[in-house]
Parts: sequence; C-alpha cells; structure tokens
Amino acid sequence: MKLWGGRFTKETNQLVHNFNASLSFDQKFFKEDIEGSIAHVTMLAKQGILSEEDKTAIIQGLQGICEDIESGKLMIDEEHEDIHSFVEAHLIERIGFAGKRLHTGRSRNDQVALDMKLYTRKEVLEMDSLLKDLLQSLLKIMKENTDTIMPGFTHLQKAQPITLAHHMGAYFEMFKRDRSRLHDIYERMNYCPLGSGALAGTTYPLDREYTASLLDFYGPTLNSMDSVSDRDYLIEFCSAMSIIMMHLSRFCEEIIIWNTNEYQFIEIDDSYSTGSSIMPQKKNPDIAELVRGKTGRVYGSLTSLLTTMKGLSLAYNKDMQEDKEFVFDAIDTTKGCIVLFRGMLDTLTFRKDKMRASAEGGFTNATDAADYLVNHGVPFRDAHGIVGQLVLYCIDKGISLGEMSIEEYKAISPVFEEDIYDAISMETCVDKRNTIGAPGPEAMKKVIAIYEEYLAD
Ligand code: ARG
Repeated sequence: MKLWGGRFTKETNQLVHNFNASLSFDQKFFKEDIEGSIAHVTMLAKQGILSEEDKTAIIQGLQGICEDIESGKLMIDEEHEDIHSFVEAHLIERIGFAGKRLHTGRSRNDQVALDMKLYTRKEVLEMDSLLKDLLQSLLKIMKENTDTIMPGFTHLQKAQPITLAHHMGAYFEMFKRDRSRLHDIYERMNYCPLGSGALAGTTYPLDREYTASLLDFYGPTLNSMDSVSDRDYLIEFCSAMSIIMMHLSRFCEEIIIWNTNEYQFIEIDDSYSTGSSIMPQKKNPDIAELVRGKTGRVYGSLTSLLTTMKGLSLAYNKDMQEDKEFVFDAIDTTKGCIVLFRGMLDTLTFRKDKMRASAEGGFTNATDAADYLVNHGVPFRDAHGIVGQLVLYCIDKGISLGEMSIEEYKAISPVFEEDIYDAISMETCVDKRNTIGAPGPEAMKKVIAIYEEYLAD
C-alpha cells in the first residue's frame, strides 16, 4: 500500500520502488515508530482531535503489531516503502477505519525524525554503559598494577619507567572523555520533533509539550523546519563514535606490539586469538587488528553523512534517508568493538617480568641519573651531557646504568657516590614521580580513588 497514491495515475516502476524504499533498513526502529505513534494518538485524544474509542483501538492495534513483529508472527515484507507505511497499513487492516486517523497532524518527515531520535537516544545510552563496563575492567587492572614497572615510550622508543596502572590510566581518561561526549550529545538532542509536520507545523491544536513529555524528551523542538531536517546529532554521534574507535584502535595497536615475540609484554588468551592455516606456530591478534581495521569504517560513516548533508536546502530532502545505514552500521560496529575489546582485555595475561626487564634495559632511568647530578649542584645542561657519556659507555659495554661500577661512574664524573644506584632504581624513578597525573604510587592512589567515585555514580 502507498501512502500517497491519490494523485498518481500510474503504478510506480518496480526499480523506482526498490530504489526509493527504506524498509529493508528502517525496520530496525519499528518499536520506536510504534512508541511514537502511541504518544501521538494519546496527545490527539487529549486535545479532542481524536475520540477516546479511536485512540484505544489504535493503541491496541499498534501494541498487537509490535508484539507480533517481536514474536515473528508478523513478517516485515518488502512490499511496503518504509516502516511507517508498513505499520499504518497493518493497523488499518487490523482495526479498520480508526486506523486511517493515526496520521492526523503528522508527516513522515517529523515521524522519521522522531523515530531516528528515539532509536539513537537509546543507543547513546547503551554505548555509554558499554564504555562504563570497559572502564570497570581498566580500573581493575590499574588497582592490581600500581607497582608493575614497565617502560613508557615516546616515538616508540623507551623513555622513562612508568607502571602498568599508569599506562591503563591514560586509556581510562580517553574513554571517560568519550562518555562525557555522549552525555553532551544526549543533552543537546533530547528535544522532540513530533508535531513539526512536513515542515511548517500543523493547523491542529497539538500539544507538543505533552507529546514530548510522554516520550521523555526535555521538551519540543522550537523550529519545525529545523526539526525535520536536523541531522546534527547523528553527525555528532558519528564523530563521538569515530573518536571512541580511534582510542580503541590506538589501544589495539599497543596490544599488537606488546603481543609480538619481540616484546612479549602480554599474552592474548587463546579464546581471543586465531591461528594460521599454514603456519602451525602462529597465534594471531586478529581481534585487535579487526578493531583497528573497523575504525576506518566508522570514520567513513562520519564523512559520508557530513557529505550527504552539506548541500541540502531546507527543509526535508530525501537525501536524508541515507543517514540510517551509515549510522546503524557505525553504531553496531562500535558497540561490537567495545564488547570484543573488553573481552580481550579481561583475559589478557600481563608478563610483568618482561615489562620490568624491558624498562631496566632501555636507559629509561637516564633522566633520573641527570636529576641526581642536578641535586648535587651540577647544572642540568652539564648533567645531561655527562649522562649522555654514561649511556654511550654502557652501550659500548653492553650493560645498563645500574650495572656500572662506582669506579666507572667516578671516572666520568666525581660527583657520583654509592647512592646513585638507589637513585636510579626503577622503583625510585617511579616512586618519586608523585605530582598528580604522574605514575608515582601516591599520585596513582589519589587518581584511582577519584575513578572509583566516578564509576560508583
Ligand atoms: N524513509 C524516509 C526517510 O528515511 C521517511 C520520510 C519520507 N518523507 C518523504 N517526504 N518522502 O527519510
């Protein structure tokens, strides 16, 4: 059934129907479509635009359709143009005349704007809760590893010793910001477009505040033209998802590196690894690679939607139908990646011995050796030069700074005393860094307490 057959004298070309139709993907929000319709008729009846009997019949009919779709009794067939037409046609089939009154004071333009908003709003919350779960996993690792020494890197070169808790804390901050971005989006988007009609409102005395409150919106949107053509919140959501994916992808890159035979900082659990069809020894980090790979796909959704929207005059244009597949795909991809990533993280084995040995072996305490000299009156620039000589010496001998004898130290600078060994031990290097945000245990404890409180919310 077409919703708009009246002014046409010919049947739609089949290819045109197929090209135009959105049912194959907008059926994803059949529940939201029905929920919106129920709120709409409830408001219509309150305003005296629809009789109580018609309202009751429509609501019962819609609830029946919803249940039947959910149970599989009612199949969504491709004969209809979109989910709105599908539901309306089945309503009329079930309850007859009253069903024809459902669409009073409404256009598919404000209807689809509402459905997509309801669907997205739910997904924003769902994604937020998945991120919260991921943060719980990260915090657990942090609490268990405040004294697990590992090298911190810049330029992927060993730089200074840090702890595993500190490294995980960096990702905690990223995903915490991601959640706050989702909260911002929710706050901005949570206004109800229903009642905007095709573009210019309607002549019926609708109570838009009431419809908005029935659907848990903060209130109605304030411009009907904008309401039917605003896709900003979807672009913002794609942008937030792109950033989430970028964070996951960076984390995956580290997991891939740490999992290599050269690093061996971690071992990915067998249940989260895959093998090779030809090389029997292989155990590959496919999940991490796939999450990294799917990041490009989510960026694609953002770019596609921005491009689709950029030339559109006000108000609704059919181009906007293209928003759905991009956004649905980005949502499903991002959610899937968060869940899979968390599962992989929860089952990782951290090779603390390897991390520590790597930190010990990479002159990560060179800055601390320079600081030692500064504390003994040597100007920092000179101290930097002296420690440079120490490093050269060690490289030549194939030893670490901690393995040099005191005589060897003194031969390069007489300022060094026995206490240099304590000053450059991995523990000292980490323990002395206690400004807030640093890896030192005092600083880390404070931050962990803040995170615990944050997650208790
Ligand atoms: N399937 C359409 C979409 O997703 C619904 C709105 C149709 N409105 C219209 N004027 N043809 O945008």
